Amino acid sequence: MLKVLSALRLSYLNSLKLTARRSNFSTECLYDESITKFISENTEIVVDHNLTPEIKLRLFTPNCRFWFERPEFWPFEDPYWAIYWPGGQALSRYLLDNPGVSLGKSVLDLGCGCGASAIAAKLCGANRVVANDIDSVATLATCMNFKLNGLESPVCVTDDMIGSDPGNFDLILLGDMFYDEALSYNLHTWLEDCIKTHKSQVLIGDPGRAQFEELAFQSRLKKLAQFELPKPVREENYGLNCSSVWAALCKPRHLSGHESF
Ligand SMILES: C[S@@+](CC[C@H](N)C(=O)[O-])C[C@H]1O[C@@H](n2cnc3c(N)ncnc32)[C@H](O)[C@@H]1O
Repeated sequence: MLKVLSALRLSYLNSLKLTARRSNFSTECLYDESITKFISENTEIVVDHNLTPEIKLRLFTPNCRFWFERPEFWPFEDPYWAIYWPGGQALSRYLLDNPGVSLGKSVLDLGCGCGASAIAAKLCGANRVVANDIDSVATLATCMNFKLNGLESPVCVTDDMIGSDPGNFDLILLGDMFYDEALSYNLHTWLEDCIKTHKSQVLIGDPGRAQFEELAFQSRLKKLAQFELPKPVREENYGLNCSSVWAALCKPRHLSGHESF
């Protein structure tokens, strides 16, 4: 049974890869009717119990089969997009509370997952939104969530952009991306380049994960906001009580005359 599932998963993933058009970055959103149906059937539309009740999202809830099912039965990559992470929640809340931050901007949501921060930026009038996730099922879920909120699909990129020149974005969003040591290290170096080369504004949502707090980058971060997590989010993320939004500065705080980008 497991072998069949693995083969299914591989063939799905290969077909996903083939649908992507190759350019610098592939910017075609996967559309696959069977996967769309699968996502609809295995998620629930959630409008509350998180920091942004204005945004509707298809997520796993206790009413969904895969909330309890053994993970090996899930036929795709780990469904990180089916969870609305505390870092992403804080970042999206901050964007909605401060619409001027994304108004008229070109925005990259790197590691978009369910796409909530990209949606928040678009709802606030971002000019162009690129949703990037190396999991093409996540970008499909993001497109479904854009539609759910009455928005046109964003530009989707499924390549790993970390380490490459992403192009000229006014604003780069990172919701809960510091959950893995190697990823955190790579992000750190790449963000420095993005800020130096393009003067991009970088906003990070993080609930105090160890890999984030240990960043050499810490002296270049300024906390913009902190949000207490709602009870259901605290219960799902044992030990986390709040989540914060940070801006990355051009220079370390002690050398920075003014604390903007
Ligand atoms: C912890 S989840 C956060 C999702 C979303 N930002 C949120 O806060 O709800 C991390 C996401 O990053 C994606 N990811 C991991 N490595 C990545 C990379 N190198 N480039 C783009 N996305 C990546 C994963 O597939 C996953 O969807």
